[in-house]
Amino acid sequence: MNAEEILSKMSIKEKLMLTSGLDFWHLVSNEEKGVPSIMVTDGPHGLRKKEGPGMGIGDAVPSTAFPTASCSACSWDKELLHEMGKAMGEECVQEKVSVILGPGVNMKRSPLCGRNFEYFSEDPVLAGEMAAALINGVQETGVGTSLKHFAVNNQETFRMTGSSNLDERTLREYYLQPFEIAVKKSQPMTIMTAYNKINNVPSSGNSHILTDILRNEWGFKGVALTDWGGGHCHYEDLNGGLDLEMPGNKQLYLKETLKAYEAGKISEETINRAALNVLKLIEKTEFVLNSDYKYNVEEHHAVAKKVALGSIVLLKNSKNILPLNNDVKPLIIGEMAEKPRYQGAGSSHLNPQKLDTFLSSLDAAGITYDYEKGYESANVKDESFIDAAVAKVDKSQPVILFIGLTDDYESEGSDRLTMAMPETHIKLAEKVLEKSDNVVIVLSAGSPVELPFEAKATTILDAYLSGEAGASALVDIIYGKVSPSGKLAETWPLSINDVQCSETYALKERNQVNYREGFFAGYRYYNSAKMNVQYPFGYGLSYTTFGYSNLKVKGNKVSVDVTNTGKVDGAEVVQLYVANKTKASIFAENELRNFEKVFLKAGETKTVTMELSDRDFQFYSVEKNAYVTAKGEYEVQIGASSRDIKLTATVTKDGEEINELEKFAGSWFETFNGKPTDDDMRLLGVEPIYEKAPRKGDYTLENTALDVKEKGFGKFFFGIMQLAVRAALGIKKSEADQIQNKMMIDSAINISFRGMSAMSNGIMKLWLASFIVKCCNGFSKPSKKEEK
Ligand code: BGC
Repeated sequence: MNAEEILSKMSIKEKLMLTSGLDFWHLVSNEEKGVPSIMVTDGPHGLRKKEGPGMGIGDAVPSTAFPTASCSACSWDKELLHEMGKAMGEECVQEKVSVILGPGVNMKRSPLCGRNFEYFSEDPVLAGEMAAALINGVQETGVGTSLKHFAVNNQETFRMTGSSNLDERTLREYYLQPFEIAVKKSQPMTIMTAYNKINNVPSSGNSHILTDILRNEWGFKGVALTDWGGGHCHYEDLNGGLDLEMPGNKQLYLKETLKAYEAGKISEETINRAALNVLKLIEKTEFVLNSDYKYNVEEHHAVAKKVALGSIVLLKNSKNILPLNNDVKPLIIGEMAEKPRYQGAGSSHLNPQKLDTFLSSLDAAGITYDYEKGYESANVKDESFIDAAVAKVDKSQPVILFIGLTDDYESEGSDRLTMAMPETHIKLAEKVLEKSDNVVIVLSAGSPVELPFEAKATTILDAYLSGEAGASALVDIIYGKVSPSGKLAETWPLSINDVQCSETYALKERNQVNYREGFFAGYRYYNSAKMNVQYPFGYGLSYTTFGYSNLKVKGNKVSVDVTNTGKVDGAEVVQLYVANKTKASIFAENELRNFEKVFLKAGETKTVTMELSDRDFQFYSVEKNAYVTAKGEYEVQIGASSRDIKLTATVTKDGEEINELEKFAGSWFETFNGKPTDDDMRLLGVEPIYEKAPRKGDYTLENTALDVKEKGFGKFFFGIMQLAVRAALGIKKSEADQIQNKMMIDSAINISFRGMSAMSNGIMKLWLASFIVKCCNGFSKPSKKEEK
């Protein structure tokens, strides 16, 4: 097909039809014009292709479950992510899927975000680079990707109705930067807009980010599509820069958009842009429909294992218990050794091809062991297995203890309330550690957890959610076949109270989320505020040691010699930070600018060379509305973590004389006392937004079932909604609390009436949604907002 030629022969109506999906996972076809219907589906850590209609999370065709983003980011290995992407793309080709919905590069503003396992990092450079490598790998196979969720989507609570409110510098330097890197380095075929608004403007039609920044500044050439049910008024979205609304909804907006066209509210040029972008996507990726390619399941399992091997982080090995000797029989405790937690819940949840467990991997390696389950993941409150496990502990026998977060703790659609592990896991760990220090703790969780027993532990490995082959990778690491080389892609704070937004995150604030801390999130905050943390960003141990020497900065090239000074082979992540020492404005203590993972044989030295761009020395001046270089000194730092700086060099830049610092005197940004306030936020040049909870009489299509649940018809409707979702998905009342089910129910009650309509596959027409809103408002008093 030839996209341009086809477009030239299409009517406005035909073009508009292309800008809305066909069903949950397909784009609209036009047989007469020779346009086939292609499939787009989740993502992002492997293919979740659902058999049959609907959105449900089950029944996916088997595919390789690669480590989740929070895990694979710890590899800091672009080649590895590229290889993983290529394998994912190959699975799409086999399954005739044109676009895989991922990767996700949202920043981890708080460790509590229920979806953090789907995101790479708290650092924009690391997240952007990992995403670019993955996208390039996928797209090398001809299949497209969808970089998501654009943008500032950092919590699940009120995810479909919330607004992330922040200043332009924070937006650009922190929350948009991973998208910018990925777009510029890999040109993803599509980008998915976020559910949330930004400063009260819906992401789906936000011309500032979609048109001014994404297309005009960064040169994005692909399709901007909505998150599922995340569209708003369709013609306004198209005007803002959107091309495609998903999922399909039997052309819910066609009439309205045609009318808008006739009334001059949307131009033919805009419709052409959107339709042509969609046609070009189909043109590029339709080849999958005729492909009979088959991928090799074993080879992809090996790729998943390789990623896990490069990503697992050794957090502590103070008595050098690791690696274990395989002629000593270990005692394995923890049901996760038998039933691994290897992926997260929600739209990324897939059906693995081949699942390794730790026990089966020990069997395969010929290692004998004793085993006690210690807890049951299905009933995490049941303490009855702890004592039997602890009774078996004897100092002379090494214990490998599996603990972490069970499925119920982390999911798309809801945020964690605390950073704690299940009580049973903590008690088990404490009791085991009381009896022995010969204990290797293996953590499985999508994000950081508090470790109240850390001081007593000698040995901790963090497996994150390491995919279908994570367990066999763990055996190789624990028994020293491979030296661990993962480094944390996010800080592990000591406690949730230490997080800069802990007092407001997903708790007190409803739909309006004010980013008072600006860009001081993650290590940008902890390092600047000199806080103690459990483990810093960029940290991770190895079975060997590394020496750094000979730092040279020549123009924008930085080189350093790294030597493996230990007795075994290993890999080191060399991290390049820049500290802005000028007094031009507020700056974080240091910020990652580049990194390289280097494999070194015992005794070997290599010179690692990295580039710094001009942008790496700039900041976004809100006053000048541009990136600027401030005149003065900068420190170039080479670190083994963000807090373990090995070598530094000072660089002087002949930039502009800027003074934006004075206004911050005495503020939180200078003292880091307590938590940032509204006044601190104002100093960044933006006003915090407050909004009263919506009340009967004022409801609009943008409200949710949750908003209207208090009284009258709204209360009735709220009940009906839950019943309807359960009935549609076949969920029994007793199963409503299971995590996947809970997510579906929570999503339904949190989606706006407009979104409900968009997700109903044409069943709930917009007029019906408006009628329900009217009923919720009470007929006697029509909605004031609607009247306007
Ligand atoms: C999620 C997206 C996902 C889509 C399709 C949405 O609810 O936010 O990340 O790709 O569903 O499953």
